[in-house]
Amino acid sequence: MMRGQVVHLPLFLILTLILTFSAAYHIGVNYGTVSNNLPPPHQVVNFIKTKTNINHVKIFDANPGILTAFSGITGISLTVTIPNSDIVSLSKLPNARSWLSDNLLPFLPATSIRYIAVGNEVIATSDRTLIGHLLPAMEALTLALHLANVTGILVSTPHSLGILSGSSEPPSSGKFRRGYEKAIFAPILDFHNRTKSPFMVNPYPYFGFGPETLNYALFNSNDIVVVDTVTKLNYTNMFDAQLDAVYSAMKRIGYGDVDIVVAETGWPSAGEPNQTGVGLDFAATYNRNLIKHVNSGKGTPLMPNRVFETCIFALFNENLKPSISEQNFGLFKPDFTPVYDVGIMKN
Ligand SMILES: *[C@@H]1O[C@H](CO)[C@@H](O)[C@H](O)[C@H]1NC(C)=O
Ligand SMILES: *[C@@H]1O[C@H](CO)[C@@H](O)[C@H](O)[C@H]1NC(C)=O
Ligand SMILES: *[C@@H]1O[C@H](CO)[C@@H](O)[C@H](O)[C@H]1NC(C)=O
Ligand SMILES: *[C@@H]1O[C@H](CO)[C@@H](O)[C@H](O)[C@H]1NC(C)=O
Repeated sequence: MMRGQVVHLPLFLILTLILTFSAAYHIGVNYGTVSNNLPPPHQVVNFIKTKTNINHVKIFDANPGILTAFSGITGISLTVTIPNSDIVSLSKLPNARSWLSDNLLPFLPATSIRYIAVGNEVIATSDRTLIGHLLPAMEALTLALHLANVTGILVSTPHSLGILSGSSEPPSSGKFRRGYEKAIFAPILDFHNRTKSPFMVNPYPYFGFGPETLNYALFNSNDIVVVDTVTKLNYTNMFDAQLDAVYSAMKRIGYGDVDIVVAETGWPSAGEPNQTGVGLDFAATYNRNLIKHVNSGKGTPLMPNRVFETCIFALFNENLKPSISEQNFGLFKPDFTPVYDVGIMKN
């Protein structure tokens, strides 16, 4: 009886069900806390769990209050971040092992941790000492996890698109910054390939659009906007073009198969009076279209049918950020009311 019913479900309904159940799977949020008016972590966790379809949360530290609040919560995994200032120290195995014992082991396995992000946009700092210790710290933490018999936590580091050389247009010509390709990225990508961990990037069409390309940045363009002159592939949105530029850079040095995770992307809902393309409608459009696009499973022109776990920046508006636009990347206000409807609330 049941089996017969399932068999007779129209295909579109089955597809809808699959999409519905997988819909939430790929969308996470960055839970930033540069603010003095946010609710306590246990309320935040309860809100995410009961009211939204968010199933991944990235934090910018390893705050024990937040890790405790996620204890026993199923269906939501976490990325914790190691601050840039700890990277040099954690490149030594004994320090990596004590960091792990002090900061994560007490919360395992009750708190579901999926990724450790080692620093944030380290290459963009241009700090040679920091950059030189990035991979050693990732290796040390991976070994520390192994020595502690922890499985299922992968180590990575999020990059800004500043890792690409200036001329990443068309997307298929994407390459890593001169001088970084062989010395920095080949060994990092080899690490990802060996440990099956993802390459994390923070693509922000918000930082890339100009007067002519606002609709392209907002996924609002049904017309072809960029034709890659080399591949003849058509691009209708900047997000795809940015990811394909990253992919092209990876593939150029042999690592096209390493997974890509979008660790941050977003759009502010308010800004300075003289800022164009910033506001409620723009932010709602970007994030709504982003979620639809990621969950469509279409992938990008160069990576068809690949799905990228995507973490929207950010969960909350954060009132202690330095500029109006930076204060207004949140999907929610500190009292949990949505800043705009982006389609991630449970019915
Ligand atoms: C890890 O597992 C091995 C083999 O099961 C065991 O000998 C070792 O004591 C474990 N180490 C820790 C830190 O639990
Ligand atoms: C790109 O768009 C043009 C114009 O619509 C179309 O002729 C071409 O087939 C498209 N290319 C691909 C690879 O889909
Ligand atoms: C990536 O890892 C696979 C094994 O999982 C290996 O066959 C392949 O050669 C590696 N790629 C590179 C570029 O080293
Ligand atoms: C916009 O206004 C801010 C001050 O509110 C000013 O610092 C900035 O230079 C202005 N930008 C432009 C492009 O006019």
